[in-house]
Amino acid sequence: MHVDEVFGSIGAVLGELALPAPLGPDDHRRLRGLLDEHGVLVLRDQALDEAGLIAFSRGFGELATFHEPDKRSATAPEIFRISNVETDGRALRAESNSVADYFNKITRRWHTDGSYKAVPALATCLYGLEVPDEGGDTLFADMAAAYAALADDMKARLDGLHMVHNYENNMDLTPGHRPMSAEDKALLPPVTHPVVRHCAGGRRALYLSDNVARYVGGMPIADGRALLQELLQWSTQDRFVYRHRWRAGDVLLWDNRRVMHLATEYDMQRYRRIMLRTEIMGEEAVR
Ligand code: SIN
Repeated sequence: MHVDEVFGSIGAVLGELALPAPLGPDDHRRLRGLLDEHGVLVLRDQALDEAGLIAFSRGFGELATFHEPDKRSATAPEIFRISNVETDGRALRAESNSVADYFNKITRRWHTDGSYKAVPALATCLYGLEVPDEGGDTLFADMAAAYAALADDMKARLDGLHMVHNYENNMDLTPGHRPMSAEDKALLPPVTHPVVRHCAGGRRALYLSDNVARYVGGMPIADGRALLQELLQWSTQDRFVYRHRWRAGDVLLWDNRRVMHLATEYDMQRYRRIMLRTEIMGEEAVR
């Protein structure tokens, strides 16, 4: 495998890797090194089934299973299915409060996967099985570059600040969708993470979310929200963002410690979009 193209501070296309190739520990070590360097890796023209995606992802660590059965594959609990198409091939109508509508609302906002957990996801692998002709891009913001470019007085202001991430906040964004069950609330209580975290290569990165994070510890609510919005606007300027325009068969691997992402709109009545996703679990709490 080799690097074919580098887009900017994040994003690199790898060549000569046809999955499901039998990859050994050395291959995964090399991939992990490239992920640490580029934040987002793109593998084109792959032909994977669920088992192949799981096998590839497992080379990077343990996989998470998603707590809501209606949002994952019926046969593989490690696969999150982000799609407007039913597993039997019928198009969803994407009506208000459907699973497709839920993902539509949640993934349109900047976020880092699993930030609502005490030990958030290290990396995410997303496979584009079917993608729309237009729209449905995924945008990535380089949060290490965004942090590095901050003024020194802002860096000093952020030092030691923590933000509360709460999965239940997703429910406020999707009124009418099934509320969180008591079991899920017990499983996923609110957690706090530093606003600035360490990531690969000795970098420091902003660690934010516009769907599950709301409050900054020790600050009046309004001030914390204003600070979050200011940092979101700062870090999502074009100069920090890589836009991925999907082709069917693309596999993306990204480092959630370094990048924040969102998906853009597409015409859900006209196009099918079937994305299969795995989350590679982190090893330690954020610091
Ligand atoms: C996600 O937010 O994890 C998925 C992004 C996408 O569907 O492009």
